[in-house]
Amino acid sequence: PAMKDLFGLDDLEEQIREAYGLRKVVVVPGDSESSPDVKRELGRAGARALLQEARIGDTIAVTGGSTLAEVAEQMGSPAGGPLKGAWFVPARGGLGESVEIQANTIASKMAKKVGAEYRLLHVPDLLSDDAYQSLVQDPNIQEIVDSIRSSRIIIHGIGDAMEMARRRRLGPEAMEDLRKEGAVAESFGYYFSEEGTVVHRMLTLGLRLEDIVRTEIIIGIAGGVSKAQAIHSVLKFGQEDILVLDEAAAMELCARI
Ligand code: F6P
Repeated sequence: PAMKDLFGLDDLEEQIREAYGLRKVVVVPGDSESSPDVKRELGRAGARALLQEARIGDTIAVTGGSTLAEVAEQMGSPAGGPLKGAWFVPARGGLGESVEIQANTIASKMAKKVGAEYRLLHVPDLLSDDAYQSLVQDPNIQEIVDSIRSSRIIIHGIGDAMEMARRRRLGPEAMEDLRKEGAVAESFGYYFSEEGTVVHRMLTLGLRLEDIVRTEIIIGIAGGVSKAQAIHSVLKFGQEDILVLDEAAAMELCARI
């Protein structure tokens, strides 16, 4: 039998796929939280899943984070030749995280690796009302935001709500609000409750909920036991088509089914 079968990963994939009504689930062996090698494998599996779906002419929105950075790192040349005329764009304005894990950096890196084009959105991730109102009026920004909103594919990371709030340096009050609202997960700039309801959003330029809902292919990628609850919550949101995760998260997720 293949390595995968020995570990029973096929069963895990099928259980998760069925329970959440997904099109495809890929589980890589091990725990990406404790092993950089496993994180690399997770990235490679994510890159493979994306390249299987991507075609010439697509717009592909990508989020930031260390997992997506690994997907970009592991991306190789597509089997069918360069993805000419495909565009990689960041899902949101991403300035605020460190450069290596910003969506802009990741989108440009992926594009270069597969011979595609990219466009960047140079605005902060978190905007004040005033800044938002003036930026949305800008024709150049409008153009890139329109292209982000018309993506055929989104590939995104998933994070624990409180962990992400800390990473974004939210103040104690905002943290307390999130806790009261029951936020357990964060993805695409939205915070979700255990049941997958959006309980909080950041004022940010890029994908809106209505764009996410009508996107043809959504690929989520995340690993580690500590993310199982967040993954469950985002799956409950119900927009995911393809999920790439590690064995540690998959086992924990299955224990909840
Ligand atoms: O900040 C971008 C983002 O994709 C978040 O939406 C997500 O919660 C997080 O990064 C995941 O980060 P990591 O892959 O480093 O855990």
